[in-house]
Amino acid sequence: MKALCSAQETGILEYLGKNTGGVSGEDIASNLSLDKNIVESLLDFLVVNLPEFFDKNEGLYIVKRPFFESSTQNSIYFALAYEDVLNNLPSLLRKEKKYGVEVERSGKYLSKSSALHNHHTWPEIVDYIKEHNFQTIVDLGCGTGDLLKHLAITLPGLQLVGIENNTDAANISKEDKNENIKFIKGDVATPETWLEDLSIKSIEKTLFISVTVWHEFLWAGETELQKVSSKYHALYKGGTFLMVEKNGYSLNSLRLLPDSIKDVTSVYQMVHPITNQGMPQSPAVWRSLIESSEVSLVTVLPAQPDMSIFVCKL
Ligand SMILES: C[S@@+](CC[C@H](N)C(=O)[O-])C[C@H]1O[C@@H](n2cnc3c(N)ncnc32)[C@H](O)[C@@H]1O
Repeated sequence: MKALCSAQETGILEYLGKNTGGVSGEDIASNLSLDKNIVESLLDFLVVNLPEFFDKNEGLYIVKRPFFESSTQNSIYFALAYEDVLNNLPSLLRKEKKYGVEVERSGKYLSKSSALHNHHTWPEIVDYIKEHNFQTIVDLGCGTGDLLKHLAITLPGLQLVGIENNTDAANISKEDKNENIKFIKGDVATPETWLEDLSIKSIEKTLFISVTVWHEFLWAGETELQKVSSKYHALYKGGTFLMVEKNGYSLNSLRLLPDSIKDVTSVYQMVHPITNQGMPQSPAVWRSLIESSEVSLVTVLPAQPDMSIFVCKL
């Protein structure tokens, strides 16, 4: 994993992805200002150990396209997102350091990992927007804005707004300078603080979306989550809210998952308490949390691979 993460961070994987016909170690090293010997030994290592993704032919290194959609790519993003957290785990365990003060996750890689996993839900989201003729989409906790960028291309003409409080992710989202998307650096838990920046024309034609964000408000218990939901109910009554969440598992159901997803899912669940987030919940728990709030649940749309889309009326 360290070898893969280094190849990611130094741009080697991206460079290989752009040069589909294959590229020599020397070319990679000179274009990315890297040590040629280390580049070659690292890539040789990947060719031997991950032949399903990496190959070497007549001195040229090749990465096979499925790699960029694979769970291996997602594990790299995830490992880099939580690198600081995992390196500091002993200090966090001993309570010598605090998450959010001395230790942070990387907004850039967190967002890349989320987008790679969550983009499987995008077709359902696009269909829902088309079916209900929404004009404004507000993505709460938009990360680097990948869903909004996708909507700008697939459904041109929408008013698109992203709310994000992670500086790292917010800066990356703005770098693209997409004129049709407005990014607001703000806290999703305090919508009253960015209400005026939003300037919504019609609440009925506005769709709020949060993709794998809402569980974070469970960190301080159910009351915090209900408090946030109530604020949206008070400010945007009549609006629609799609709450998209990755399904949470109990310890026993985690044990029974196939190996291919057990590792990633159990690491995903492990990092939540360490990073002051609430735990992902099962669809049944989400149902009862929504039903006991001021927001009403309209329906639940299952989504691939292990996600649920809760359609709510604010
Ligand atoms: C798991 S990521 C999901 C990102 C994006 N929605 C996606 O599907 O790729 C959660 C995102 O929510 C953001 N976030 C969490 N709590 C937030 C808050 N209170 N206000 C604004 N953004 C928040 C995080 O910084 C992170 O970018």
